[in-house]
Amino acid sequence: MNINLAQNKNLKLFKLISEVAEKNNQTVFIVGGYVRDLLMKRKAPTDIDFVTEGNGIDLAKAVSKEINPTLKVSVFKNYGTAMFKFDGLDLEFVGARKESYAEDSRKPSVETGTLEDDQKRRDFTINALAISLNKENFGDLIDPFDGILDIKKRILRTPLEPSQTYSDDPLRMMRAIRFASTLNFKIEENSLKAIKKEVERIKIVSMERIMVEFNKIMLSEKPSVGLKLMEQTGILHLVIPELTALKGIEEVEGQTHKDNFWHTLEVVDNISENTDNLWLRWAALLHDIGKAPTKKFVEGLGWTFHGHEFLGSKMVKNLFYRLKLPLGTDMKYVQKLVKLSSRPIALIDDGTSDSALRRLLFDAGEDLEDLFILNKADITTKNSSKQAKFKKNFEYVALKIKEVEEKDQVRNFQPPISGEEIMELFNLKPGREIGILKEKVKEAILEGEIANDKEEARNFVIKEGQNIGLILA
Ligand code: CTP
Repeated sequence: MNINLAQNKNLKLFKLISEVAEKNNQTVFIVGGYVRDLLMKRKAPTDIDFVTEGNGIDLAKAVSKEINPTLKVSVFKNYGTAMFKFDGLDLEFVGARKESYAEDSRKPSVETGTLEDDQKRRDFTINALAISLNKENFGDLIDPFDGILDIKKRILRTPLEPSQTYSDDPLRMMRAIRFASTLNFKIEENSLKAIKKEVERIKIVSMERIMVEFNKIMLSEKPSVGLKLMEQTGILHLVIPELTALKGIEEVEGQTHKDNFWHTLEVVDNISENTDNLWLRWAALLHDIGKAPTKKFVEGLGWTFHGHEFLGSKMVKNLFYRLKLPLGTDMKYVQKLVKLSSRPIALIDDGTSDSALRRLLFDAGEDLEDLFILNKADITTKNSSKQAKFKKNFEYVALKIKEVEEKDQVRNFQPPISGEEIMELFNLKPGREIGILKEKVKEAILEGEIANDKEEARNFVIKEGQNIGLILA
């Protein structure tokens, strides 16, 4: 089969590479994700991998020199690869190789090989396709493992015996699941078995690399596809046991609770229909993690998960630390949403008093809309009248909050009286009284005792200051 590259926007580049390789007496092929995505008519990747039967570093240098002698080439001698950037593309060249892997490492020892050797050692047949750039068969697809058929059948299959492919490089287990989730492919039966068998080897993969794949799963259209596969293969239990701990339904005195793991997957899918924000999707994933450690059956009450949001938000920190995820604002955002996840709905039960609404507005601040997106996604009941009731309740809370927001403007609360002004009022030096008075002002506003207004706040501070023995200046 010949792939017509005449309309390809990189045709000129491919021709140039072809000529340089010929001059150097080397063969050259495009391989990997670029070929896969081209055949699947997906958006063309900006990373292009080239394989040569010969020296990849020499070819990269020769090609870059031909394009522009000042281009900077990065060389990775140990891997026999070299790459450079050109025209918004990352071009990587590698010499075809045979590889063997040590038991305890993902780092292969490398020997030179033929194109077929190189294709064999790749992860999936759909990633082992090559397009020749050589003059005699320019554009020919070289597909020794029927990758094109697997694309049609939407199947992930390894070129070699699956156990070997996964054991060689256990990151591929995560890649299989990631491709299944992002491309909506099935992992072939033997592959799935091999992943289950080799699952413990995921431990030699760095957490950073696992998370790169995991976040791609989280950003796929229906993340539950990948999450279910992670659960089914046992990877999820090794990487995020806090989630698998949510699995199962218990029954005491005929009372059950929902399976919080499957519920969580539904919430993640629901939220993914409304947001591409990775961290909001993470908040959905973790919103119930506090439920496993807080679960209790209480006589007369049934199943309770008292304080699960608070504990869950604390667990987020340890989890992010262990998973090597960013510990700054993204983590704090997830913590905040987990902590607040039940608040809007709890308002229905406890009554939508203005002060409760103001407190929620104050606590959620600029993330209130995201919290609402999470709450909507959290409605997973299949009972349509219950669903309608929850939605209606929820809309009521949202409306009430809007009213309070317009009236009191506590969303991005700025104290109406500053520390300096308080110091001036009582002729004070900086000290703990200022903090105490400011906190009292905030509380009084949230409770509705005074308006969010400078004059009222000033009078309130004068009164409260005098109550604690301060003397007006
Ligand atoms: N590859 C592999 N095993 C890995 C990583 C990569 O066999 N653990 C091979 C595959 O042939 C893959 C190619 O190297 O197609 C390039 O890898 P990479 O750029 O990481 O992934 P892509 O397949 O290009 O896919 P994506 O860009 O979606 O990550």
